[in-house]
Amino acid sequence: MTEELFNESKKYFPGGVNSPVRAFKPYPFFVKSAGGCKITDSEENTYIDHCLAYGPLILGHANPKVVREVSNQLTIGTAYGAPTENEIKLAREVVDRIPCAEMVRFCNSGTEATMSAIRLARGFTGRDKIIKFEGAYHGAHDYVLVKGGSGAACLPDSAGIPTDTTKNTLSVPFNDEEALSEMIEKEGENIACLIMEVVMGNVGCIEPKPGFLEFVRKITEENDIILIFDEVITGFRASRGGAQQYYGVTPDLTTLGKIVGGGLPMGAFCGKREIMELIAPQGPVYQAGTFSGNPISVQAGLSTLSQLDDKFYKDLERKGNFLRGNIESIIDDEQYNIQCVGLASMFQIYLNPAEVYNYADAQKSDTESFLRYFRALLKEGVFIPPSQFECNFISSAHSMADLQDTSDAIEIALAVAFNKKNKY
Ligand SMILES: Cc1ncc(COP(=O)(O)O)c(C=O)c1O
Repeated sequence: MTEELFNESKKYFPGGVNSPVRAFKPYPFFVKSAGGCKITDSEENTYIDHCLAYGPLILGHANPKVVREVSNQLTIGTAYGAPTENEIKLAREVVDRIPCAEMVRFCNSGTEATMSAIRLARGFTGRDKIIKFEGAYHGAHDYVLVKGGSGAACLPDSAGIPTDTTKNTLSVPFNDEEALSEMIEKEGENIACLIMEVVMGNVGCIEPKPGFLEFVRKITEENDIILIFDEVITGFRASRGGAQQYYGVTPDLTTLGKIVGGGLPMGAFCGKREIMELIAPQGPVYQAGTFSGNPISVQAGLSTLSQLDDKFYKDLERKGNFLRGNIESIIDDEQYNIQCVGLASMFQIYLNPAEVYNYADAQKSDTESFLRYFRALLKEGVFIPPSQFECNFISSAHSMADLQDTSDAIEIALAVAFNKKNKY
């Protein structure tokens, strides 16, 4: 049945999916419904979900308060093309929580947020070049689809992007103070911004080394480079105030997505007033969107954030520590030469004998065994993103019993991945 759906899907969608990461071999399952921490496919298989739509669902699927309040909003309109009071309420939440936020602009996706924040940084500084870290993902627009495998290479990562566009995108390895210093020494006065994931959630889950963020903050400040934290994953995830609160370093601008829309499409960027005031119609940097600040996503964001208080994050961190602790015990007991990583409600396992500090390290992971691990997990009833280079999530809807079930499944899946157990 799934195979038939996939064959049908391939007739209409390139590769049978609407976003590349959803495709895995031989074919992805098709979702019928989801609730809490569980997701059910068209063949009635139910999985504990640690993909959680790649991050937005911090309360799990179909949270009752979100469903109730969004349903009410649906009955009074879905898009107005005019401002609402709820937009102000959600902006207040963002400003109250995110340390760098003094003003906000809502948009429709994380991609739009990073694209606009980069334009804003260029408008503010009058400079063209930007720096990103190798392997960091900031959405699917032209300026950031550059991974730059080595040094300052600025070749596009996708067909269809003019090299003229990406010649202004420089990249350096994450967690490498020397490489960043050298780049800034060489190009400093041409660089508008440095955009970075504080925790690299698109090559697995890589934390900044102690002191690295402070170094980045200092060198960008000294060189009048706008520092943008791309917190599309970590915003309202790493802590109440995102990764910038978690690590205690404040950027100039922040991009948000995922959780800010409470499970509906939304993005935002926010930051220092003197920079944000340059956005149209107040300033000369153009940014716009038909559905920006639409009342459905805004309501979902409000209904979600209203449930995320300090106690919520403590509970979630406890769950994260429990799961990571279990995984570490499995690794120790079985003497696997691999790494369990993560923080707060984020986790991943690198099938890599060495610790992972950057993209090049991550690339050395055993991706074939990872796919065996992923498939075995599915068979054991646990859904994670089908890639070594994504992050896994926990929601408040996961009970300790669910997390124990996940740990048990991971134990079996690792044994299968490393051919210790030939279960299937
Ligand atoms: C760090 C980061 N930035 C930007 C994006 C793009 O967000 P969206 O998929 O909502 O366009 C993503 C998406 O996963 C992301 O992880």
